Amino acid sequence: MRTFRTDLRRTLRDSEDLPTLPDILMLVRKTIRKKSSNADKIGDIISQDPSMTSNILKLANSAYYSAGGHPVSSISDAIVRLGLSETLRICTTLSIINSFHNLGGYTDHRKFWLHSITTSAVALAVKKSCRKKVNCDDDQIQVAGLVHDIGVLILDQYFHETAVEIWDDSLRNNIPTFINETEILGMDHGEIGGYTIRRWNMAAPVVQAVMYHHQPTRRDHAYVSCAQVIHVADRICSFKDVGSSRDSIEVEGLTDEILGELGLDIDRILSLREEARAEMSRSDVVLSLSGKV
Ligand SMILES: [Fe+2]
Ligand SMILES: [Fe+2]
Repeated sequence: MRTFRTDLRRTLRDSEDLPTLPDILMLVRKTIRKKSSNADKIGDIISQDPSMTSNILKLANSAYYSAGGHPVSSISDAIVRLGLSETLRICTTLSIINSFHNLGGYTDHRKFWLHSITTSAVALAVKKSCRKKVNCDDDQIQVAGLVHDIGVLILDQYFHETAVEIWDDSLRNNIPTFINETEILGMDHGEIGGYTIRRWNMAAPVVQAVMYHHQPTRRDHAYVSCAQVIHVADRICSFKDVGSSRDSIEVEGLTDEILGELGLDIDRILSLREEARAEMSRSDVVLSLSGKV
């Protein structure tokens, strides 16, 4: 019997235009993890890609990062200014936007990527705020935040008519999209995104955090805490309700159970929400560099 699951499996296996990650990004990611890595080594790799090089230089010289300092003209100086982990974050973000920028037609890409880049930064802040252990590293939680909604773009591109019907119905009837998707397709965009990035050999905590970011209490996987962190970050970065009362947070789906399990309190969530607003402007700087949206 033909089901959405089998259609998706076929699409992910057979579509020739399905986004892939550039080799250069994989090399940067691999090299940066080595203890011996430094700005010169990473710079040598990045300089093989002219557009990545110019983006890193532009960013290092932007008002946000230069803080009035002298202009830098070499890639290794730019990396020193940004720091290795920020360089990794920027390279990953720009490569992923680049790979996905022409997918879909319904999605507002600017809003989509602003939300995704901000969720990535907030996910790291949430992870660092947890009093309980989260079993993934800082890079993994940032990548999961960045790609958590990528399933939306897959739906928009490869299952366009069905997806638009589902999303329009959600809008009309004020039903969260993931609930409608699950009811009609048997899975939500989180799970679809998880299957997509598994093809890129992403680490298990990233895949599972993406898969279950709308169902973080599912217990049948090993990275529940990672899914919970992405869930919390996603809720914090959904600015539909600007109220900051405890009630408004609960309405948005953050339960005491999840906060308790992560060892987070509501006051920290409220301050993270304020930080997320500030983070949006940094996301905007990075997004404008992509030149795609
Ligand atoms: Fe989502
Ligand atoms: Fe989201």
